[in-house]
Amino acid sequence: LKVVITDHPFPSADIEREALAAIGAQLVVGRCREAAEVIDLARDADGVLVTYAPITRAVIEALTRCKIIARMGIGLDNVDIPAASGRGIVVTNVPDYCVDEVSDHALALLLGCVRRLRQLDQSVRSGHWDFRPYRPIPRIRGKIIGLVGFGKIARAMARKCQGLGMQVAAFDPYIASDIVRSQGVVPLRSLEELLRESDFVSVHVPLGPDTRGLFGETEFSLMKQGAVLVNTARAEIVVEEALAQALASGRLTAAGLDVIANPRADHPLLAFPGVLISPHAAFFSEEATEELQTRAVGDVVRVLTGALPLNPVNPEVLAGVEAKTNGG
Ligand SMILES: NC(=O)c1ccc[n+]([C@@H]2O[C@H](COP(=O)([O-])OP(=O)(O)OC[C@H]3O[C@@H](n4cnc5c(N)ncnc54)[C@H](O)[C@@H]3O)[C@@H](O)[C@H]2O)c1
Repeated sequence: LKVVITDHPFPSADIEREALAAIGAQLVVGRCREAAEVIDLARDADGVLVTYAPITRAVIEALTRCKIIARMGIGLDNVDIPAASGRGIVVTNVPDYCVDEVSDHALALLLGCVRRLRQLDQSVRSGHWDFRPYRPIPRIRGKIIGLVGFGKIARAMARKCQGLGMQVAAFDPYIASDIVRSQGVVPLRSLEELLRESDFVSVHVPLGPDTRGLFGETEFSLMKQGAVLVNTARAEIVVEEALAQALASGRLTAAGLDVIANPRADHPLLAFPGVLISPHAAFFSEEATEELQTRAVGDVVRVLTGALPLNPVNPEVLAGVEAKTNGG
């Protein structure tokens, strides 16, 4: 058996290597960025573990033996799930390993932005001892935070924001209002309403056809003057030129971003002093990554030894296998 890790940001792949050695599987670790590199590495693999590399239809069609594609993370935007289902390959993820970390990180970005920590720290380092140039600094208690999406991370974020005295509202067309209300959160009927009402907005939706470019010029124009945006979801949900314009015009005072498109030293958003950026680090803690690696490879081991995975995202593929087995 051969299992491939296409790419990973972890300190090592020892957890995976050990788990796979126990079933006699060999592990090959790559640093793929492009689909062609994944094809070269994984063509004859029985299982694929992936972090950010693109698992496109072309990749999936080139896999000759693959039974499982395990995404080492929550988001599935880099895996063509219909293509995998079409080839009978089960796709798994690890849906809840970093809910605490990402909500902590989103809150840290929000607090850092509102309390102007970046500017204050920089001014102290350059020999000044004066907060006044960085006013206004609004009180957080009583402010409205709007959560876009009300899944696992948003709910954890809601509890933390409530602990700080914020009023929490959410827009998620796929979650019943009663569930939102049961968390002490105000359900809103549209993104427009959320943008108009909120002092702070935090994004917690997956990237997909409906959410790509969800925040553009129109959306920023609806936000309150001086609002703050936090994005720990995916870069492509926000149109960065529109965000830059909103910051330049003062519509937004700040943005806290764990994800930006094409990170580079001269990225235009780095020019704004009110912007805090981290390098897709929200998921990370020692504990979270150990749990992530253990659970992701656990599903690979299960599938390669004929057991059912714990976190399939296309379970219909497994139903097909079972039906075939049952039917002889
Ligand atoms: N920065 C990081 O390190 C990091 C780590 C983990 C997850 N993430 C991102 O965070 C996202 C959210 O994670 P989660 O665990 O809360 O996912 P989740 O699946 O529990 O919740 C997502 C919610 O978004 C809602 N939604 C979908 N489309 C929507 C739309 N158009 N408008 C409003 N709501 C919509 C869904 O109904 C769902 O309730 C992931 O998809 C991933 O992209 C980032």
